Amino acid sequence: MLTRRVAGPAQQVGLAIWARAAGTLAPPRNTEFALLQDSDLAVFDSILGSGGVITDPHEVDPYNRDWMGKYRGRGRCVLRPRSTAQVSALLRHCSARRLAVVPQGGNTGLVGGSVPVHDEVVLSTGLMTTLLGFDPGSGALTAQAGAVLATLEAAARERGHAMPLDLGASGSCAIGGNVATNAGGIRLLRHGPLHGSVLGLEVVLAGGQVLDLLSSLRKDNTGYDLKQLFIGSEGTLGVITAVAIQCPAASPATSLAYLAVPSFKAAQQAHGVLQAARQNLGELLSAFEFLDRESLEVAKQFLPGARDPLPGSDTVIPYTAQAPFFLVVEIAGSSEQHNAAMLEAFLESTMGEGRVLDGVVAQDSRQAGEIWALREGITEALRHRGAIYKYDLSFRVEEMYGVVGAARERLASAYPSGFLGGGAGSTAGSDTEHALKVVGYGHLGDGNVHLNISAPRYDAGLEALIEPWVYEFTAAHSGSISAEHGLGRMKAPCIGYSKPPEAVRLMRSIKAAFDPQGILNPYKVLPPE
Ligand code: FAD
Ligand code: MLT
Ligand code: ZN
Repeated sequence: MLTRRVAGPAQQVGLAIWARAAGTLAPPRNTEFALLQDSDLAVFDSILGSGGVITDPHEVDPYNRDWMGKYRGRGRCVLRPRSTAQVSALLRHCSARRLAVVPQGGNTGLVGGSVPVHDEVVLSTGLMTTLLGFDPGSGALTAQAGAVLATLEAAARERGHAMPLDLGASGSCAIGGNVATNAGGIRLLRHGPLHGSVLGLEVVLAGGQVLDLLSSLRKDNTGYDLKQLFIGSEGTLGVITAVAIQCPAASPATSLAYLAVPSFKAAQQAHGVLQAARQNLGELLSAFEFLDRESLEVAKQFLPGARDPLPGSDTVIPYTAQAPFFLVVEIAGSSEQHNAAMLEAFLESTMGEGRVLDGVVAQDSRQAGEIWALREGITEALRHRGAIYKYDLSFRVEEMYGVVGAARERLASAYPSGFLGGGAGSTAGSDTEHALKVVGYGHLGDGNVHLNISAPRYDAGLEALIEPWVYEFTAAHSGSISAEHGLGRMKAPCIGYSKPPEAVRLMRSIKAAFDPQGILNPYKVLPPE
């Protein structure tokens, strides 16, 4: 089965894809930024010492490419500090020279935010991985920003606690990147967004000043809560160097159910099941995820070892084979027996009411792991299939799946054969591997749908059909164009679909206050002026 350490950026990204694949075309290089000189490299070397500066183009290359193989920069060097003092010295120099910088953690971001657009210097937190402390009394964990989420989860578990967030990229992403993107994931339903869990941050500002807000106090109302500004700032306001985070006590037992439901839209069945889960499972409910049939098929096809959790349902219950939606419902409580009894009763009642067609409760952690691998592996499976147009949207729960159906209709009328015109895949009428596919999955409990349009290659015509239509649709339904992945490069020009001009103006003044020269992650988050 898939491990949760995600593979690096796709290896074969041709020039044509690079030139076009921007989601939007690359904005022009800001000529006010300096060009990197050998003398800069000498300063970096003197700050970081041996192994701290990478300039070999082959070694630099993966830092220039995003996880989806959609965005590619041409940064010439990667800086790998080990300490806050080194980050500070590096930024002091970059600021004095006006060199643009892209902070990078695990490089698993999905909006092109973590890689250069042009020749920005990459500042990687990859060597800043130290666990700085854990307070067993409060559950406050403090770590350097480059610590990998899964490593911190293991450290918290050893101490009877758990990280308040979890996502499919946990084996690769770093806690600093999680905070910088305000990552959501599968535990948000239970523990809320990072704005609540992050207790303190240490941040190096663009000019090299160290802002020490690394308190691990639970309550602290002294003035404006500045750390909140860095949560979700996507590397544009400062480089996060350390994070203090509240880890809840680990639940002794978790149980997982996988359910087939007859429809989302028509009878709001999935929403009905969510309401029933909230009422009947109450505070035990720890995750409520969904995938549609198309997502399941892609996952089964492309994830090694993936199995349908409801095997034989096509023969035993023929209509389940056509079930369009599947739910992953997890509860976490104090006893396995109690959990199992609660889930079984929940399954029985929802099936009795016809809200659920069929379901299975995982019998052990291996089965639960397989179900999670299927849900969380959809992202990886889609990448194996080819190009991905990925939209991370939120709506009122009742309305969240509408965009998937609307996208299918729109594509079906533009591409009646289901294939892109021209180029590879266009004539492979019976080859479903080359067909366009529209899939929807996500965090149902949070109203967060991941609309993904999978194609054999990035294509300007296809992209023009989806964007800005998808953003207009979202705004018209009072949704958000970025539920959890951020804006990055992909959606920086589109912020206006979800935020009013006055809010964008205020954001610009915050950016100017923190980073007057605009050297931190330029071309990202805010639209060009
Ligand atoms: P990067 O990708 O390196 O960077 C992301 C952004 O943060 C960039 O703008 C970068 O400049 C900035 N940044 C990184 N480190 C710092 C720092 N120390 N200081 C300042 N800025 C910094 N996201 C979700 O929200 N929910 C999910 O369920 C989810 N699942 C995913 C599953 C897979 C398989 C993958 C590949 C991605 C998934 N993501 C998900 C995307 C998610 O945003 C990232 O995985 C994660 O939060 C980014 O962490 P990272 O360390 O990889 O950051
Ligand atoms: C997920 O929920 O699986 C992640 O956000 C990744 C994705 O959107 O593909
Ligand atoms: Zn997600």
